[in-house]
Formats: sequence, C-alpha cells, structure tokens
Amino acid sequence: MPVLVNFNLQEGRKTLQLIKRCPEYVSGYKDYCRELYDNDIVYFRPTNPDSIDEDWFSRTKCWYDKKEKGLIEGQPISFHYWAVDNGKFIGEFQLRTQFTEKVLMDIGSIGYAVKVSEWGKGYGTEILRLGLEIAKEHGMEKVLLNINEKNAASVRVCEKLGGKLEDTVEIYNEAEERHLLKRYWITL
Ligand SMILES: CC(C)(COP(=O)(O)OP(=O)(O)OC[C@H]1O[C@@H](n2cnc3c(N)ncnc32)[C@H](O)[C@@H]1OP(=O)(O)O)[C@@H](O)C(=O)NCCC(=O)NCCS
Repeated sequence: MPVLVNFNLQEGRKTLQLIKRCPEYVSGYKDYCRELYDNDIVYFRPTNPDSIDEDWFSRTKCWYDKKEKGLIEGQPISFHYWAVDNGKFIGEFQLRTQFTEKVLMDIGSIGYAVKVSEWGKGYGTEILRLGLEIAKEHGMEKVLLNINEKNAASVRVCEKLGGKLEDTVEIYNEAEERHLLKRYWITL
C-alpha cells in the first residue's frame, strides 16, 4: 500500500507518495540516478545509471525481493520505496529493519535521497516523514540515522523530525573515505 500525504511546497499544493519499485517509474529512477552520479554525491550511492537498461527491472527484481526477506548474505533485511509526486519521480527511501553491526556503525536504518534538481523544495523532509510511518508499520520503535557530519541538509532534516544525537564516530567507507559520522536516533 502506498503511503500518501498532501503537503505544501513553495510552489503550491502537491501530493507525494512512497510506492514500491515498479516498471512504470524506471525511466524516472534512471534520471534521478544520473543526476546523483553527475553531481558526484557521495552521501548516498544509487544504482549506476549506465546499468539501467530495458531489462534492468526484471533482472533485479528477484534480488530486491530476496533483500526484503533477509536472503542476501551479509545484508540486513531492507525495503525499497520510490518517491513520486503527480507522476514525477522525486527520490527514494530504503528501510533496514534489523540492527546489525553494519546498520549500527555504518549505514543506519534509513537511506534516502532526492533528485538533485528537486533539492530545497521540502521533498527530503516529507520522504523521511513518510518513511518513519512505514518504519512504524514494520513494528519498529526507533530508527537510527547515520549521517556524514558534512551533510548539513540531511542533519537539518533529521533534527527537524526529532533526531537525537547519540554520538559522533570516525569511520571509513569507499564513497565518503575517512569521515565523522553523526549517529541519530528517532523514536517512533
Ligand atoms: C538530504 C536531502 C535528502 C535533503 O533533501 P531536500 O529535498 O533538499 O530537503 P528539504 O528541502 O526537505 O530540507 C532541507 C533542509 O536542509 C537545509 N539545508 C540545506 N542545505 C543546508 C546547508 N548547507 N546548511 C544548513 N542547512 C541546509 C534547508 O534549508 C532545509 O531546511 P529548512 O526546511 O529548515 O529550510 C538531499 O540533499 C539529498 O538527496 N542529498 C543526497 C543524499 C543524502 O545525503 N541522503 C541522506 C543520507 S544520510
């Protein structure tokens, strides 16, 4: 079931939904991935847009289905949603429902991003707000957001939605290299 919300953006009233991945929005997803790649955004790495061809959705469906069931070795159970507004692809939201070591100390419970050309219009806040409702529906009582301390927009969104700073730790990953990670809990 999509989660639906109406909210006011600067340019008027819009409707944002988080929906399960579906063939209809693959082209929008590809454009979104391309913008993140072209702008060298390191805080969230989407699919390489060059790998998204006509067969991509059917080729990858089984892998995403397995992820939801926790059948991919070394990966926490995760659910993937796409954010769309009146037929336009806006961004994505990923929820990890297990607190594995990797979730706790690296990727956090939530991964989300907005298409670069749509930044600053309130979408990030609304995707996270809707995503927290989905987390509740999954029976979660709290979620952990792990945010690179340089990622001011994400820190702002998280704090707006009630994030409480647990600590700041130094970590390394390939995309962001060595950096300080702020770990925030949001109680649901
Ligand atoms: C983080 C992200 C999702 C925010 O999306 P968005 O649609 O721009 O978010 P919103 O418009 O709802 O809100 C952004 C907030 O950050 C603030 N902000 C933006 N840049 C900022 C900066 N450099 N310093 C301080 N605040 C900043 C905005 O003013 C706004 O706060 P406000 O509502 O109080 O004015 C988007 O930047 C993104 O996709 N980033 C790359 C992926 C990513 O970082 N994902 C999160 C990983 S933890």
